[in-house]
Amino acid sequence: MKSKTPKDSLTIQTNLVMPNDTNQMHTLFGGKLLAWMDEVASICAFRHCNNVAVTASINNVSFDLPILNGAYVTLEAKVSRAFKSSMEIFVDVFVESRDGKKEKCNEAILTFVAIDEHKRPMVVPELSPETKQEKQRYTSALRRRQLSLVLAGKMDAKEATELKSLFLGE
Ligand SMILES: CC(C)(COP(=O)(O)OP(=O)(O)OC[C@H]1O[C@@H](n2cnc3c(N)ncnc32)[C@H](O)[C@@H]1OP(=O)(O)O)[C@@H](O)C(=O)NCCC(=O)NCCS
Repeated sequence: MKSKTPKDSLTIQTNLVMPNDTNQMHTLFGGKLLAWMDEVASICAFRHCNNVAVTASINNVSFDLPILNGAYVTLEAKVSRAFKSSMEIFVDVFVESRDGKKEKCNEAILTFVAIDEHKRPMVVPELSPETKQEKQRYTSALRRRQLSLVLAGKMDAKEATELKSLFLGE
């Protein structure tokens, strides 16, 4: 199976924040942003593996800045690492200002798993990172995978070698 680059899965989605998308503070409701993140990541996963993929976990979401009603919000998703059947996907969120500048306001890291017609996990192409940021995200993805599996009770913490070394400096 031919490996792919993060560029191959790049998925960009721009949304206009409407009153119906906001909370009592007239800023974007977090659950709405999560839904957009899940959607853009799902398309991104499809572009990497050319197959249906389901959300296995949402590992990290940060809501760093509030997003105002009427804002133009752009979500950019790229696969940051592919394992056997799972793919880690980074979603970077930007708000566009009136002078056309993009300011990063949020990000999320999700894991998708490619599934076959019997809903069983299936092998996905490997990822070859190209840029400095893509290489950094590729390397650190292993620790995030271990943390996610440990928290889900699917990995014994003793086996999470790379994660442990982060804390113990081994
Ligand atoms: C995701 C799902 C397919 C995994 O099935 P499973 O029986 O746990 O399969 P496995 O244990 O063989 O794991 C398959 C892959 O998922 C990964 N995975 C499973 N749970 C994970 C988690 N919480 N975090 C990160 N990766 C996870 C495994 O590491 C494995 O990756 P690999 O093949 O790259 O090594 C299954 O749990 C599922 O269908 N969940 C529902 C998904 C869904 O409906 N999502 C929509 C939101 S409700």
